[in-house]
Formats: sequence, structure tokens, C-alpha cells
Amino acid sequence: MRDATRQTVVWEALRAVLAERAAAAGTGSLDIVDAGGGTGGFAVPLAGLGHRVTVVDPSPDALAALERRAAEAGVQVKGLQGDVTDLGELLPPGCADVVLCHCTLEHVDDPAGALAAIGRVLRDDGVISVIAANSVAAALHRALAGRFDEASRVLGEPGGRWGDRDPMPRRFTREELVGLLTAAGFTVGDVHGVRIFTDIVPSMLAESDPGALIALERAAASHPVFRDIATQLHVIGRKRRPAGD
Ligand SMILES: C[S@@+](CC[C@H](N)C(=O)[O-])C[C@H]1O[C@@H](n2cnc3c(N)ncnc32)[C@H](O)[C@@H]1O
Repeated sequence: MRDATRQTVVWEALRAVLAERAAAAGTGSLDIVDAGGGTGGFAVPLAGLGHRVTVVDPSPDALAALERRAAEAGVQVKGLQGDVTDLGELLPPGCADVVLCHCTLEHVDDPAGALAAIGRVLRDDGVISVIAANSVAAALHRALAGRFDEASRVLGEPGGRWGDRDPMPRRFTREELVGLLTAAGFTVGDVHGVRIFTDIVPSMLAESDPGALIALERAAASHPVFRDIATQLHVIGRKRRPAGD
């Protein structure tokens, strides 16, 4: 159910971005880099749509699984082992129309450095798609689980973690994500909330009418209040052209 919601809301936004970017570039086949692309959950379907996709990920296991998944789907995806912060050493400047950084910024040591590195491999007007864990949602979820101290800690601690046993290394508020992207040279466009209700309604209710729940998630994804309590935030940004261009 969580995956279905993520797929629906994220892919609708991605499809619109890809169509717009393809029209601007005058080609249906874009150069896409998936930074922290893991086993290819996005990369393989994107290659299936005819795009040239490169995954950069530090995990050899993930890259091996990506290779198998691509082979099963009958598509080619290039896998490069490395850190998103080192993208500039792995790929030439300005080589990508679109860079995905989905559920990865939470794990990198230097999110600002990672976004700067992404900016360098993007063409002018290239698009970045970032999905990251929302600390506001983590506070809500801990409170709903009766973990009130942990909810307070999420709100008070930089990085939005609820304690030492929290498996998530870092979370962001919408303001923090928008601030990071802006400082790294991106103009921030749409921000969508992903998994707003799916993670807070009892699973029995979520499973009783999944189609209606997905429709609700879609309707609330851009809502200025509900968006900000989503488990994940999906931010689309465009690389700003250097002044004077
Ligand atoms: C939760 S998975 C997300 C996979 C994929 N992007 C998705 O949305 O399905 C996080 C991925 O980030 C990768 N990762 C962790 N630290 C990274 C870093 N510093 N640079 C690039 N990727 C990293 C992990 O190996 C893992 O594949």
C-alpha cells in the first residue's frame, strides 16, 4: 500500500517533469542520473521509457541487484559505484537532463555538498527530483504511537531523529529542503507530500478501499497543510542559469 501510494504520487510528478524536459530538449530520450538509485526501482522503469539512465550508488550489492533487474526487464542501465558527493569525479559536467536523488539525501554525510555535486552534472535548466524523509511526519508518527518524548526530540533535534535507535540518519522539514536546494543553485518548483494518510490510518482501513485512499493522497499531495505532514517530501528543482546568461 505504501509503495502504491509512493508510486502514484511520485510518478505523476516525474512524468510531467520528463515530458516538459523532453519538449525543451527536443528529444524523447533524456540523460538521467539516479544518485543513490539502489536496485533500480526508478532507474529500470525510466530506461524502459527509452531514457539513458546511469545509477550512482556506493553499494555493490545494490548495483548487482540493479544489473539483474535491468536484465530481467530487457533494458540497459549503467551502474557506477560511488558517493553522490563525488558525482563530479564520476561523470562529466553538464551531462544530465535530470538527476534523481530519491530517499538518499538522508544517508549522505554532507547534503549540501551532494546537491552542489548534482548541480555540476546537470545541464543548464536541468531538473533535480529529490525525495526525502520529513521530520514533521516523524514527530506526528511518534506521538501517535504514544512516544511523546521521542516526538519532542524529533522537533528539537537538528536532523529530526527521535533517538539513538532511530534507523533514519537524518530528516528534513520542507523549509530545510527548499533552503538546501536554493543555496545549491536550484529554483524550487513543486513540492508534493508522499504518504500523507497512508501511514497514519490503521492498515485495516487503508486496505479496505486502496483506490479511494490513493485518490485522497493524490488530492492532498499539493495541499499546503497536508503536504507538510507527509512521510516524504518530493521536491522538484531546476538548475539556475549563471547570472548574465
Ligand atoms: C533507501 S535507498 C533508495 C533507493 C532508491 N533511490 C529508491 O528511491 O528506491 C537509499 C540508497 O542510497 C544509497 N546511498 C547511501 N549513501 C549514499 C551516498 N553517500 N551516495 C549515494 N548513494 C548513497 C544506498 O546504497 C541506497 O541504495
